[in-house]
Amino acid sequence: MDTTHLTKFYKKNHDDKIDSLFLAGVISKKEKDRLLDRTLELDPETGSHMIENYIGNYSMPLGVAMNYMIDKEELVVPMAIEEPSVIAASSFAAKIIGSAGGFKTTVIHRMMIGQVTLKNVPDIEEATNNVAEAKQEILSRANEAYPSIVKRGGGAKNLDVRLLEDDTDSGIPSYLSVHIHVDTQEAMGANIVNTMMEGIAPYIEELTGGTALLRILTNYATECLATSKCVIPAHKLKTQDFSGEEVRDRIIEATQVATIDPYRAVTHNKGIMNGVDAVVLASGNDWRAIEAGVHAYASRSGQYRSLTSWSKNEAGDLVGELTLPLPVGTVGGSISFHPAAKLAHSIMGHPKAHKLERVIVSVGLAQNFAAVRALVTEGIQKGHMGLHARSLAISAGAKGDHVQQVADILKHSKHKNLQRAKNILLNILEEFEK
Ligand code: MEV
Repeated sequence: MDTTHLTKFYKKNHDDKIDSLFLAGVISKKEKDRLLDRTLELDPETGSHMIENYIGNYSMPLGVAMNYMIDKEELVVPMAIEEPSVIAASSFAAKIIGSAGGFKTTVIHRMMIGQVTLKNVPDIEEATNNVAEAKQEILSRANEAYPSIVKRGGGAKNLDVRLLEDDTDSGIPSYLSVHIHVDTQEAMGANIVNTMMEGIAPYIEELTGGTALLRILTNYATECLATSKCVIPAHKLKTQDFSGEEVRDRIIEATQVATIDPYRAVTHNKGIMNGVDAVVLASGNDWRAIEAGVHAYASRSGQYRSLTSWSKNEAGDLVGELTLPLPVGTVGGSISFHPAAKLAHSIMGHPKAHKLERVIVSVGLAQNFAAVRALVTEGIQKGHMGLHARSLAISAGAKGDHVQQVADILKHSKHKNLQRAKNILLNILEEFEK
């Protein structure tokens, strides 16, 4: 990638942005033409095959975040997002973090978990022993249910049994849940795991004497964790009103608040998900699954807490860390045929699933850094309103150059609302007609 073509990317007009991505080697000539010809939309035939009662496409802006340096590799990150300030904030944070060495990531393992949950198990201990003894037979039956994943080097690898204890107060009896750990290779794997669970359920019933109530993947992907870390020297945090040390300490304190207060933690984590969801969505992955798993992970201590940790090291640098369950895939679902998802994978250099996890968790960390840094210094509204002004201008009916003109005046207005945007536009149009 030749990043010289990408400097001041945000200042270029739409067509020049696309051309510079091509010149930088981020997209091919064919992809450039598709973007310029506006042919990223799903065609009606594909849409009709994807869902029942398809009637059209719901468009979302697709953009790119710049300045990412992840494990010493420079990357342009595609993001599908409607919130005006997210990509600007992401690129801003990635620039600061990149200038301090970038993100360092780890992906420990990539296993999906399937559950066969049984009711009316007559003897829990005997059932647990029977399942443990039949472990190899259960795993090979799971693999027989989906042989192609075994051919690709994956498959069911391990199992454990969990007793879901009764809750007499609410009249809930105990259940037994058999977990199968599946290596789904490049796929997110819901179909693979669900097929396996349905395939082995009768055998598990035989072994336990219980009745299989549920046979499904869990989206709480605790065996599919990715971590990103960054270290930022304090002097890089300095703003007009605060020293670098003050900003560092305020970021640490804000994260402490999000660790002890669920009301703040939800908003803090929402800021992380602004970045995470945008990449998950652009890459054609299931953002509902990621959202559900991430928030459960934030509650793993028994209380909903901040997902990021920010601290200082002995040198006084700010140290950030984020771990997320990220069961994303690079094949399957709409990834192989959705034109925008295909482009997103191409922009990232067709990453393997573990690399896509590394990118997403780093974007989450950057997004949190950008949001909390702004919150503890100048406040979030200054940056937000600058970009929000353009949305208001569009809502007011501005077109072409008028969008920026209305936004520029609106930014300096006392009241930044739709009515004011409409009045500004009216004035501009009246001037124009004179
Ligand atoms: C807004 O979309 C996200 C923030 O609220 C996140 C945060 O408060 O940390 C700014």
